[in-house]
Amino acid sequence: MTKDELNIPNHVAIIMDGNGRWAEERGLKRSMGHKEGAKTLKKLLNHIYESGVKYLSVYAFSTDNFKRSKEEVDYLMNLFIEMFKKQFKELKKKDVRVLFSGRRYPLPEGVLDAMDQMSEETKDCTSGVFNVCINYGGQEEIMDMVKKVIEDKVSKDDITKELVNSYMYQDLPPVDFVIRTSGEMRISNFLLWQSSYAEYYFPKVYFPDFNEEEFDKAIIEFNKRKRRFGGYSK
Ligand code: FPP
Repeated sequence: MTKDELNIPNHVAIIMDGNGRWAEERGLKRSMGHKEGAKTLKKLLNHIYESGVKYLSVYAFSTDNFKRSKEEVDYLMNLFIEMFKKQFKELKKKDVRVLFSGRRYPLPEGVLDAMDQMSEETKDCTSGVFNVCINYGGQEEIMDMVKKVIEDKVSKDDITKELVNSYMYQDLPPVDFVIRTSGEMRISNFLLWQSSYAEYYFPKVYFPDFNEEEFDKAIIEFNKRKRRFGGYSK
C-alpha cells in the first residue's frame, strides 16, 4: 500500500503512557520522562497533522493523576504552562484549534490562564483540532453531561446521540483510533463515550520513544483493521 492509498483516521486519541518507566529505566527522576514525553509530543504534532489527521486528542493528565506525589504533580503543572505558553505556539501558525477537555477544579490558576490563552488565540483556526484532556476522566465527563442535561431541563424525547455528544466537554466527531503506548492494555477512563467504535493499538514503546516512524507503523496497523460498526460484510 502506498502512502497515498492509506486510510487516515479522522480522529486519533493517544494515551501517552510510559514516561515514568522510561525515566526510571535510565536512573532518572520520573519528571525527566515527562519532559522527554513533552518533546516527543511537540515533534509528533507536525507529523500527525501533515499525515491528514484532523482531530487529535491526548491524555495529558487524568483526574486520578492528582494522587501522585506533590513533586510530580507540580512538575507536570509547570510543564503544561510552559507547553501552552511557548511550545505549542506553532499550532496557531498551522491553523490548528486547541481545545481542552476536563474539569477546571482543582487545576492551578497558572495552568487555567495558559489554557484560556491558548483556546482564545486559536479559536478561529479551522485546519485541525488538538483536544488536550487535562484533569480528565471519562466517567466524570458522563456525570457532568448528565448534570448539564438536567439543569437545562432537556425533555427525554430529545435525548439523541447527537444531543449527548453536544453536552460532552467538546462536541467532537467520534474517535477512530486509540493508541496507548508502553504496552499496557487498558482504557483508564479515557474518552469512554467517544471511543465506542474505535480501533485500539498498544505499541510496546514508552511514549518518549513514540516517534514519527512509530506513528506511521500505527497508521499501517489501522489500515489492516476491518471496521464493521456492529454490522456484517463478507
Ligand atoms: C503517563 O505516563 C503520562 C502522564 C501522566 C503525563 C503526560 C504528559 C506529557 C507527555 C507532557 C506533555 C503534554 C502536554 C499535553 C502538554 P506515566 O507517568 O503514567 O508513566 P508510567 O506508567 O511509566 O509511570
